[in-house]
Amino acid sequence: MIFTVAIDGPAAAGKGTISKAVAAHFDFAHLDTGLLYRAVGAKVNDGMDAVHAAETLDPSDLNRDDLRTSDAAQAASKVAVNPDVRAALVDFQRNFATREGGAVLDGRDIGTVICPDADVKLFVTASAACRADRRYKELAGKGQDVTLEGVLVDVIARDKRDSERAEAPMIVANDATLIDTSDMSIEQAVAAAINAVDRIRTQSAS
Ligand code: CDP
Ligand code: CDP
Repeated sequence: MIFTVAIDGPAAAGKGTISKAVAAHFDFAHLDTGLLYRAVGAKVNDGMDAVHAAETLDPSDLNRDDLRTSDAAQAASKVAVNPDVRAALVDFQRNFATREGGAVLDGRDIGTVICPDADVKLFVTASAACRADRRYKELAGKGQDVTLEGVLVDVIARDKRDSERAEAPMIVANDATLIDTSDMSIEQAVAAAINAVDRIRTQSAS
């Protein structure tokens, strides 16, 4: 059985949290595609050429422990504007999406470019203030040296770069279901996503 769930949306909207829960519920595999760009960005920060870093990216690079920092996030969104970087990462993502047993991929261009034929497309969003507040709590909780103001500036800068770039910009696919999590608990957001997937699975089974 091949079944692909595409989950896109802006920074810290809850894509990862929802994707993990959907994957666990349906026993699908999960790929956080942002980690690919964060790993390339981290290698560029180490001095490597961006396209070379993307072409030689190894799954073990996704285990680096400095990928969940604001520095890596900013570096990711800078390398992500480069069409050659994006092209080098397409096959890995599409192979993951079409693996046997079902897959959930979250990112910015999954439902539009990587998997335009995905079985389910969700666009998860929330207000910038809400997203910054969540990401600030997450990073501060891990002991990172961040301020709420700094995280808000970071999130807004990435949203702008991600939605205004020429190649695979972050846009809502016209057949995506929108989930605004601003006033939702994690449990409510996860339930909304699982319901959306269940509806399509029931339709395709009948
Ligand atoms: O993957 P993405 O950057 O879109 O977001 P995430 O890492 O899943 O969520 C960012 C933070 O917001 C995490 O600390 C989540 O626990 C939190 N969150 C929340 O407070 N309420 C939600 N409805 C969803 C996520
Ligand atoms: O977790 P958060 O939503 O803050 O970011 P992420 O999903 O880890 O993505 C980091 C950056 O990678 C984004 O700001 C985008 O510039 C880029 N990205 C992308 O261009 N396409 C994707 N499919 C995933 C991430």
